Amino acid sequence: IVDIKGGPDEGLNRLGETIVVRGWVRTLRAQSSVTFIEVNDGSCISNMQCVMSFDAQGYDQVENNVISTGASVWIQGTLVGSQGSKQKVELKVDKLVTVGKSDPSFPIQKKRVSREFLRTKAHLRPRTNTFGAVSRVRNALAYATHKFFQENGFVWLSSPIITASDCEGAGEQFCVTTLVPNSTEALVKDIPTTKEGLIDWSQDFFGKPAFLTVSGQLNAETYATALTDVYTFGPTFRAENSNTSRHLAEFWMIEPELAFADLEDDMACATAYLQYVVQYILENCKEDMDFFNTWIEKGIINRLSDVAQKNFVQLTYTEAVELLLKAKKKFEFPVTWGCDLQSEHERYITEEAFGGCPVILRDYPKEIKAFYMRQNDDGKTVAAMDMLVPRVGELIGGSQREERLEYLEQRLDELKLNKESYWWYLDLRRYGSVPHAGFGLGFERLVQFATGIDNIRDAIPFPRAPGSAEF
Ligand code: 4AD
Ligand code: MG
Repeated sequence: IVDIKGGPDEGLNRLGETIVVRGWVRTLRAQSSVTFIEVNDGSCISNMQCVMSFDAQGYDQVENNVISTGASVWIQGTLVGSQGSKQKVELKVDKLVTVGKSDPSFPIQKKRVSREFLRTKAHLRPRTNTFGAVSRVRNALAYATHKFFQENGFVWLSSPIITASDCEGAGEQFCVTTLVPNSTEALVKDIPTTKEGLIDWSQDFFGKPAFLTVSGQLNAETYATALTDVYTFGPTFRAENSNTSRHLAEFWMIEPELAFADLEDDMACATAYLQYVVQYILENCKEDMDFFNTWIEKGIINRLSDVAQKNFVQLTYTEAVELLLKAKKKFEFPVTWGCDLQSEHERYITEEAFGGCPVILRDYPKEIKAFYMRQNDDGKTVAAMDMLVPRVGELIGGSQREERLEYLEQRLDELKLNKESYWWYLDLRRYGSVPHAGFGLGFERLVQFATGIDNIRDAIPFPRAPGSAEF
């Protein structure tokens, strides 16, 4: 007796074998002579259709309504060819055991339910086709990410989640605080207070301020300037109170950092990486990709095949601004050289101007980019790059880093950032500085791009955004 993992079609060359299926009942249809039980174990989209006649062991559980949608079951039977159009094989049931009954209030019944509704049922939504498929593809993208970087000699680095530095300098950090223990007086006495006698949360990491990281980049730079090529892949946090379909308060970021590398190397790495992971899911997640192609975004397979094969468009920021100024389209936010591009501009560039092809924009004005980016010779722009993709907009943000101590110190001064707190970062420029570059890719945006799911809250198991931290 063996489990079948990987879907009923795998059973085609095992017809006649006795097997066991364990999973959750998706639907139950009683007909006069037989009952059809569709069981799913999460290994694939397809259900195993289990056909049960009244003489099978455990039929009383059907008769007495012990088994219903949502219940967990253990079913033993014989694999046989199926007459049905949906599957090639089915299971002729010998024995059914209801492992865990399901209350009639089970909210995910056969009728299609909205993804908005399912967000309020984050603990049960993995039992649907859509979230099963998104979870498996997300898993495959994570696996392919490690595979790509490992095969190319990168070392994976765990960057800290608690940190004192604000990598992006945008002040979008969550503060780390300690709960006041009500029994330990000594500890209560040690809690720092403000002039007004209130708890000073900004001093609350054992007497020092600490935050949840917005990016592991600065830490990655320290390891790249020792191990040459490294990457992080972990959770990052942004306290931006924005309710959009592309922003989360907690998201996963992949951040490679390459030493002895410039912006060209950085863009080449980002392109090769994206093409690799897209190709990987096209080859390894066929059933789930077919599902997305039919139900979530028509044509996604063709779109991704193009991404995996075609060259990406490259433009400077200045060229992009010219293009936007010439566009016939009316934008809500007017475009001038020096402005930060809004999502309507980004979408126009990748979706309309270049027909759905990923576009890499480079050489942005230094005023709209972070302090660490390398200044270009024109004195106005920095060696930054953003990769824009259709439907999602900015998927990747990266740059060559300023490796020259005097330029970096000058930039910190201009931005009135506290040089002392970056002492260790400046040390990297004092001791064996080297041209280096890297980028950050928002993993949930990649999941959106690869599945066609339009809201980022459906691209992560338990989304953290304003108003959602319940589960
Ligand atoms: O452009 P960002 O802010 O760049 C950095 O953090 C750099 N330190 C990265 C680096 O060079 N190592 O963020 C990088 C990417 C964005 O392009 C976007 O895909 C994603 O992270 N991102 C978010 N994803 C979901 N929700 C948010 N609130 C996000 N903010 C950024
Ligand atoms: Mg960015």
